Amino acid sequence: MTKLVILPGDGIGPEIIDASLPILEKVSEKFNLEFSMETADFGGNAYDKHGNPFPDETWEKVQNSNAVILGSVGGPKWDDLPRELRPEAALLGIRKRLGLYCNIRPVKYHDILASKVVWKEEYIKGVDIVIIRELTGGAYFGAKGRDEHKAFDNIEYTAEEVERIVRRGFEIAMNRKKVLHSVDKANVLESSRLWREVTLRVAKEYPEVRLEHLYVDNAALQLVINPKQFDVIVTENMFGDILSDQAAALAGSLGMLPSASLGGEIGVYEPAHGSAPDIAGQDKANPLATILSLAMMLRFTCKNEEAAKAIEVAVEKVMNAGFATIDIAGPNSKLVGTKEMAELVLKEI
Ligand code: NAD
Ligand code: IPM
Ligand code: MN
Repeated sequence: MTKLVILPGDGIGPEIIDASLPILEKVSEKFNLEFSMETADFGGNAYDKHGNPFPDETWEKVQNSNAVILGSVGGPKWDDLPRELRPEAALLGIRKRLGLYCNIRPVKYHDILASKVVWKEEYIKGVDIVIIRELTGGAYFGAKGRDEHKAFDNIEYTAEEVERIVRRGFEIAMNRKKVLHSVDKANVLESSRLWREVTLRVAKEYPEVRLEHLYVDNAALQLVINPKQFDVIVTENMFGDILSDQAAALAGSLGMLPSASLGGEIGVYEPAHGSAPDIAGQDKANPLATILSLAMMLRFTCKNEEAAKAIEVAVEKVMNAGFATIDIAGPNSKLVGTKEMAELVLKEI
């Protein structure tokens, strides 16, 4: 039995979660897997209800679970709250408390996107990249300060923190094309110099992997002009946040990017996108990032590759048939909403 806690969150979170969960039920029947599901308040809605974006009751439930399925949090309604009360603080809090230092964000180009993506097809056809983002260090969690005249967010990393994430990068690269791009800013930042030193040290244990170092500014450029050179990218927290949104353009939309946050006993699975306030409540959001995050949960928490693949293949079939939500639709697509997209995937399982 896998105990899941569902945190629908804010904005499009509840719609994409509601649409996607029936797929998990179907998978559980088909593959004889048992799940229990409990929903809990998290994010802006939790702040409205409890005065706390990450209520103790929610933390209790999370601690008693095997995995968390998260929609998205945040929105303009809560933007003026002090930092520790903001919905985003809950997200950072759950990552830190669960020790989820390793965020895996796969980016895949799909042929159906040819009429949608902004790049020429020959440049991106076949793009299949895994971005490994350090998730519990860097500027997000370093010392912070603010007075009238000055503000700072320190980028802090220990050698151990760098080592464990970079090692994940090498391990994943070993199971793929044995090419690893490490992204840093070692020409300027001390934290990046440590990052590079540690990476070079760890690299000695993986002689089969071709290691390339890129400065983050050049990495941003290379992702646009020659994305096919990348297979696995490993980088620190903020660089990974920015580069993964940028890379989402190669997959046609942020609505195509799933993620798994790993490192402790309990994994968190969530789309890489946010609460999309501009389209919330309109049945327009692409649920595929969430659906593909469920596949990652089956792979990493349930260790059931077959069930994970079943979801991924179903998504592929639905896309091959030309169905698309508005964010990935081209002129010849069959336009569908959030619910219908998820129902189509369910039918293919
Ligand atoms: P966003 O990811 O919510 O939206 C960026 C753009 O992508 C928007 O145009 C949106 O419509 C589109 N988009 C996002 N998800 C989509 C989907 N599934 N289908 C179709 N289009 C989609 O980023 P933002 O606008 O910068 O942030 C909005 C709020 O979300 C902020 O409060 C931010 O802090 C929060 N946020 C939360 C998470 C999370 O919960 N993991 C991640 C990122 C941002
Ligand atoms: C993400 C989001 C979060 C981050 C925010 C909402 C805290 O952008 O998951 O990519 O920056 O990590
Ligand atoms: Mn982000």
